[in-house]
Amino acid sequence: MDSLPALVERALAEVASSGDLAHLDEVRVRWLGKKGQLTEQLKSLGSLSAADRPAAGQRINEAKQQVQEALTARQSSLEVDALAAQLAQGALDVSLRGRGEQSGGLHPVTRARLRIERLFGDIGFTVAQGPEIEDDFHNFTALNVPADHPARAMHDTFYIEPGHAGEGALLRTHTSPVQIRALRAGKPPLAVIAPGRVYRVDSDATHTPMFHQVEGLLVDTDVSFAQLKSVLHGFMEAFFERDLAMRLRPSYFPFTEPSAEVDISCVECGGKGCRLCKQTGWIEVLGCGMVHPQVLASCDVDPERYTGYAFGMGIDRLAMLRYGVNDLRLFFENDLRFLRQFRGG
Ligand code: DAH
Repeated sequence: MDSLPALVERALAEVASSGDLAHLDEVRVRWLGKKGQLTEQLKSLGSLSAADRPAAGQRINEAKQQVQEALTARQSSLEVDALAAQLAQGALDVSLRGRGEQSGGLHPVTRARLRIERLFGDIGFTVAQGPEIEDDFHNFTALNVPADHPARAMHDTFYIEPGHAGEGALLRTHTSPVQIRALRAGKPPLAVIAPGRVYRVDSDATHTPMFHQVEGLLVDTDVSFAQLKSVLHGFMEAFFERDLAMRLRPSYFPFTEPSAEVDISCVECGGKGCRLCKQTGWIEVLGCGMVHPQVLASCDVDPERYTGYAFGMGIDRLAMLRYGVNDLRLFFENDLRFLRQFRGG
């Protein structure tokens, strides 16, 4: 068997003659790997006497270390050579312009939502939230829409198959159930808006299966319909940053009495009549009314003492009107060419 110094000499010679990193790795395995020649040397220690073992062990370790150092040094010099060769070939063009940072922007629907939250926040409304997977009680029953009530047909509901969520689970069809949650969680006086996603079985240029609504609810003593009208008018003018005419048309919602639908003068033509307003001069923007006594009662709020108003509107629709977008689906296709246009202010 070769002496230790002879082995080291051979190992060092192989390290020195390795021309690339792959070859160098083979040399490392051959000498220092688990079954490498120098590693094997340690096994021979067993046959030595206990007195000789420490000194012999130390010599072998020093030999391994010497080879390891040579390997490390050779590796860095090969790496430097490889990089230099790559640069010489021009494969790495360090003068190439960087890709740069792409600054993102808020989605137009998010911008509209934040704007709504800020405007109502300014007059004392706080933001409330509720789950998108709702139950029948909050989405319908507590809102004065008992089972078999024809008003259920007003919403094409996505029901969740039994066994996947609780009994009677559904995707909320409107943000109105948050009225119930807010009223049950806190005592009046109360003023909340509840923005969020809602779902209906519907799809065309002005309807998507998922869309966004914002609900408003104010409950206090002596709340009047006139206050509701003035708050909504103030909001619409602030949201669109212009003077607008507003009108209320009598309507029906199970959870409000009386109920109204609200139109504003057309944001496109100012009321003269155009394609957007179908020549009527008016654009419908929301539904509202005075909270039905039955709704207050289902939340343990005394309808003799408290009154309230509520409203619900489509955030996407408001965003379309504010930004002049004519197809709702554009908001959800995530085409950057469309979205980039909203990056600015
Ligand atoms: N939840 C109604 C819908 O989705 C909108 C609505 C109408 C909400 C009147 C209200 C309201 O709070 O008072 O069609």
